[in-house]
Amino acid sequence: MSGLTESPAWRALAAHHAQVKDVHLRTLFAEDAQRFTKFSVEGPGLLLDYSKNRVTAETMRLLLDLARERQVEQRRDAMFAGEKINITEQRAVLHVALRAPRDASILVDGRNVVPEVHAVLDAMARFAAQVRDGSWLGHTGQRIRNVVNIGIGGSYLGPEMAWRALRPFSDRGMRFRFVANIDGADFVEATQDLDAAETLFVISSKTFTTLETMTNAASARAWLVGKLGSEAAVARHFVAVSTNAAKVREFGIDTANMFGFWDWVGGRYSMDSAIGLSTMIAIGPEGFAELLAGFHDMDTHFRTTPLERNLPALMALLTVWYNNFFGAQTVGVMPYSAHLARFPAYLQQLQMESNGKHVDMQGKHVDYETGPVIWGEPGTDGQHSFYQLIHQGTKLIPCDLIGFCRPLSDLPHHHDYLMANLFAQAEALAFGKTAEELAAEGSPAFQTPFRVAEGNRPTNLLLVDALTPRSLGMLVALYEHNVFTQGAIWGIDSFDQWGVELGKVLAQRIIPELESAAAPALAHDSSTNALITRYRSRRGA
Ligand code: F6P
Repeated sequence: MSGLTESPAWRALAAHHAQVKDVHLRTLFAEDAQRFTKFSVEGPGLLLDYSKNRVTAETMRLLLDLARERQVEQRRDAMFAGEKINITEQRAVLHVALRAPRDASILVDGRNVVPEVHAVLDAMARFAAQVRDGSWLGHTGQRIRNVVNIGIGGSYLGPEMAWRALRPFSDRGMRFRFVANIDGADFVEATQDLDAAETLFVISSKTFTTLETMTNAASARAWLVGKLGSEAAVARHFVAVSTNAAKVREFGIDTANMFGFWDWVGGRYSMDSAIGLSTMIAIGPEGFAELLAGFHDMDTHFRTTPLERNLPALMALLTVWYNNFFGAQTVGVMPYSAHLARFPAYLQQLQMESNGKHVDMQGKHVDYETGPVIWGEPGTDGQHSFYQLIHQGTKLIPCDLIGFCRPLSDLPHHHDYLMANLFAQAEALAFGKTAEELAAEGSPAFQTPFRVAEGNRPTNLLLVDALTPRSLGMLVALYEHNVFTQGAIWGIDSFDQWGVELGKVLAQRIIPELESAAAPALAHDSSTNALITRYRSRRGA
């Protein structure tokens, strides 16, 4: 579906934007005492307060018109029905099937995939339970105490993010490490203090061909065999998570120790598939079931709630509003939780790999902006580094602020102080500080222009009851469906990632040019040729 910028809803939004773009949140709140009630919605275990956005009731009506005109609901239903909405790869997009209850039926090419999903979950649960209770023994008869997930992108970010988020729910007697980078330092640092006899490697790769993962997996195998002195040790210390059984076998892992998934699960949508094996070992099968239940809660909300009260749809529409009408280039995501330190990084792949597209589904160059840059750090850390630019810089940066009502630590004061900061930031960003207010406080006149904070900086505030496996699943699914809705409005394929291929191909060409004994005949551009030559001459022996 092309012609977005010509569509009636888009044109109406453009005209409306011209009228309301300078209206201040101070005015909007002053004019309507019910603003919070009107612009907040309850979801499963959380509240979305979007009242501190630069929108009126008319803005939301027009944005919802846009969603309907772009057939967001029909596209959503097509996804849930297993239609091949990833058109460039001709694949269904069914991460929602990964968390469907056992008795659900979701068809791909006429076959119900839910029983297969649960068969893998059951196999994961048996294995995770054996590792956790010590009945899965290593080659020398010792129990496993260290789990090292080797994978990158979607085969890494979700597991690491989830482990950090859910550490209070994890087995504290075990150590979890995550190796992603092909820089050998990543593997060396992750394993330097580990006893190989107690270490399990989970090689996670959808394709089982990714250079970084295969290189790290080969080094892990050499490390383990070197330490334990036998090739036979591989069988007790390596398991694989992949869709590619042939490659797993070729690597030397018995496919009895492989946990599968399917081509209808995108890498960045896979943390709730077998890619979550390390998460399940950490928090146990029951904890993982809770995580999946949280995903499913949000799936049900997204599938059944009218767009007016549909959290992912509303968040997506607000992103479109700022991205396409205010020209905002980025979205900040600031979780007020140290446990969610890796959540922004996780969301970067989810959103930027999904919606960083320059052509629509017909392959035509778009004449509008698509996915924004996603970035963020936990609060309050960010307040003491980059928030200055959000408060007083020249760029409009809409932010999602995420907080939890109940703390995971019982230290006195900490949580109230944390949450006070969260609420204060949303307030300061929205309302700022005027010259009159400064004068009334006795601020020296010469400082006034520097101290004025214009405000009118928009935020969404997500207030979650508590960080648990269930609410984490719900939050991730919230962003998955947010990304989906944005992509549906922009008319792009949010489920392919052709752009990352070129760099991979070029690296494969350069590898032999770096490793060959004799100086290679280089045929790149002058810059690349010179860089390769200098590297070869200076890298040492
Ligand atoms: O390079 C991007 C990518 O293909 C991601 O989409 C994916 O999550 C990652 O690489 C890892 O891929 P794999 O799981 O196949 O190793």
